[in-house]
Amino acid sequence: MFNEVEIRAATTAFIASVCVLTVTFVGGGIYWQHNGRLAKDKPSSESEALVAKGRSLFLQSCSHCHGRDADGGEDAPSLLKLQISGAHMTLVIQNGIKDEMPSFAKKYNDADVEKIVAYLKTLK
Ligand code: HEC
Repeated sequence: MFNEVEIRAATTAFIASVCVLTVTFVGGGIYWQHNGRLAKDKPSSESEALVAKGRSLFLQSCSHCHGRDADGGEDAPSLLKLQISGAHMTLVIQNGIKDEMPSFAKKYNDADVEKIVAYLKTLK
């Protein structure tokens, strides 16, 4: 059987490893939370740039129909308060609408369309 010294050593080792684990998990959690916050800050300025670029593309290609502020023109509806999803906006921009709106698939690549959609999503 174990003698007293062995039992005490084992107990000490056990407590020590629990401490190490606790520090690792709690410390790790704080680290990830902190990092997560940093990671979230970054895309917000990136998405601002995306929206700004999208707006300038919109002014070049869409505003003569949909209005400078996307609030509707003579021939095209307002794009404010759009009820459709981003994926649906992407489809409309890429495919156009027969007899109503031209397709922009040749003019704009996926990244450009993404910028325009980012802009449309900010409209209220
Ligand atoms: C030639 C004029 C014209 C141009 C240029 C044009 N559109 Fe349109 N767009 C229309 C018309 C007209 C409709 C409505 C068609 C319908 O409802 O049948 C429409 C519909 C849409 C819709 C769907 C709205 C809804 O409520 O479902 C979106 C989104 C849209 N346009 C975005 C754009 C974007 C972004 C651009 C520029 C890349 C653009 N349009 C350029 C004429 C145009």
